[in-house]
Amino acid sequence: MENLKVGIAGLGRIGKIHLNNLLQMQNVDISAAMDPDEEAQKYAKSKGVKLVFKTYKELLNVHEINALIICTPTDTHADYVELAALAGKHVFCEKPLDLNIKRVIEVLEIIKKTKIKLMIGFNRRFDKEFYRVKKRILNGDIGDPHLVKITSRDPSPPPLSYIKHSGGLFLDMTVHDFDMARFIVEKEVEEVYARGAVLTDKKISEVGDIDTAVIILKYTDSSMAVIDNSRKASYGYDQRLEVFGSKGMLQGNNIFQDNHSFYNEKGVESSLPMNFFLDRYAEAYIFEIKSFIGSLINNSSVSVNGKDGLESLRIGLAAKKSLLENRPIKLNEIET
Ligand SMILES: NC(=O)c1ccc[n+]([C@@H]2O[C@H](COP(=O)([O-])OP(=O)(O)OC[C@H]3O[C@@H](n4cnc5c(N)ncnc54)[C@H](O)[C@@H]3O)[C@@H](O)[C@H]2O)c1
Repeated sequence: MENLKVGIAGLGRIGKIHLNNLLQMQNVDISAAMDPDEEAQKYAKSKGVKLVFKTYKELLNVHEINALIICTPTDTHADYVELAALAGKHVFCEKPLDLNIKRVIEVLEIIKKTKIKLMIGFNRRFDKEFYRVKKRILNGDIGDPHLVKITSRDPSPPPLSYIKHSGGLFLDMTVHDFDMARFIVEKEVEEVYARGAVLTDKKISEVGDIDTAVIILKYTDSSMAVIDNSRKASYGYDQRLEVFGSKGMLQGNNIFQDNHSFYNEKGVESSLPMNFFLDRYAEAYIFEIKSFIGSLINNSSVSVNGKDGLESLRIGLAAKKSLLENRPIKLNEIET
């Protein structure tokens, strides 16, 4: 069987990760890449990519390409995915597809019509810790899940210039947790109640965002999830979850920089959790892109689809509304 021909758009932090992971795969040729930035173009050439462009249009014109990996800034995703679909190319798109729900719905309609495959980059689904928890839930090991607890704290906030355009904490950061809340117990959310504050850097309030939040989700069967977020954890990247059920409890824990411990008369020391997402989820990014390529080779469903992107955005918008209006928001108050 001929190798899949893949093109990649955007070679910043996440684009480089996907490029390097794809380069390790036997059944994939990276035919072309694009990025308006010269350093990024040089990077692609240094990795052996033969066709390197400045514009997306040029990338789209490479007929042999079967699939595109979109790792460009969020405000380009919807247009780039739409153009790829209309050109008959499958797409892996980094989260989120768009911050505007109407635009997401429009793009998903085009995906439906063109019948291309679209996968959204919710990488945490591919983390081994969380995946093991999910497998045991499906196995019935904890009976009926009643409570989900997700802790997701970043080591430091992104620049204010990024926060201004990111859609805010709920849409750029908690959106991963909203997806995890649905994925881990395979339940849909009915109601969202959010509280938030600015506790780490007052400048964050100047751009209209928060840096600390607690969100309560009620699933359609009345079971619940609690998510807590901070933009700044002094000890690094904190990524844990717990699911409590009728027959037991499961935990997915942080992964540490190393596993040694030091004991003395004062206490015990061990290393910190892995520093940030590029380290903690390094392996998850490999499984994620392999899953996308696998779905193309086997002509099977993608593991994170457009509906997953849409639902996490709806929960994020409900959280924003809840914070603003200081009340629980039914998800059916948000457009479908
Ligand atoms: N799933 C995850 O874990 C994860 C992690 C980080 C970022 N992301 C998402 O990936 C996307 C990119 O984030 P990043 O952190 O890599 O950003 P980045 O700023 O590091 O990289 C973006 C790249 O896109 C290029 N670019 C700018 N304008 C462009 C345009 N119009 N067309 C094509 N390329 C353009 C830039 O030159 C840069 O190289 C964002 O949507 C973000 O939400 C996802």
